[in-house]
Amino acid sequence: MSIAVALDGPAGAGKSSIAKRAAKALDFIYVDTGALYRAIGLAATRRGVAPVASPEVEALLNQITVDLTFNEKGEQAVLLDGEDVSGLIRTPEASMAASEISAIPAVRAYLLDLQRNMAKTRDVIMDGRDIGTVVLPDAQVKIFLTAAPEARAGRRYKELIEKGMDVRYEDILQDVIKRDYNDTHRETAPLKPAEGCVTVDTTELDFEQSVEKIISVIKEKIYGAE
Ligand code: DC
Repeated sequence: MSIAVALDGPAGAGKSSIAKRAAKALDFIYVDTGALYRAIGLAATRRGVAPVASPEVEALLNQITVDLTFNEKGEQAVLLDGEDVSGLIRTPEASMAASEISAIPAVRAYLLDLQRNMAKTRDVIMDGRDIGTVVLPDAQVKIFLTAAPEARAGRRYKELIEKGMDVRYEDILQDVIKRDYNDTHRETAPLKPAEGCVTVDTTELDFEQSVEKIISVIKEKIYGAE
């Protein structure tokens, strides 16, 4: 049977970079489910469909295809109607569109089987908000990865500046706070620690320490040893 690690937590806690590295070390596939919500957010933005529950959003879901592919290095790409949109979904605007679109129950239902199927045949670390609570409630390992909002905003700010984007720390912090609020207050599958999860707070940990901690939690749960 394949092994599933459910990794949930708020935006900017470092889930993706930490999980990518841990997955490589453990020879698991890393699945970033946020990319799926981002791709649907992008589809809605492109077509001028408002990110609220509506027949228009349901029609949109019937018209598009969203998929994740992995190259030989195990790196993920997200495809919207066959187009690789992995780069286009990483702007602050796309983040906000994803946060809004992800509150819509029809969108969450649309992505459920796709996510579950990915964990059926391969060992995965699946990163999201509701992986341990909804998508893979039987995952052998559930981790809730978090950090203070200021630390998360600071990291994201650095990332975007390094990519040459013109952003302000204050705006990023406000975005983080707003997205936390959206993600934890929505009615369907809100962000919350899953029952039986291990909470890891990375506010005071650097990247390498965070990776080590995650790997040791996974090994301990699976093999019963550090
Ligand atoms: O992890 P991320 O920042 O790329 O996610 C983008 C948005 O998608 C985020 O606001 C929350 C939402 N999301 C979700 O609701 N459920 C998931 N499993 C993954 C992401």
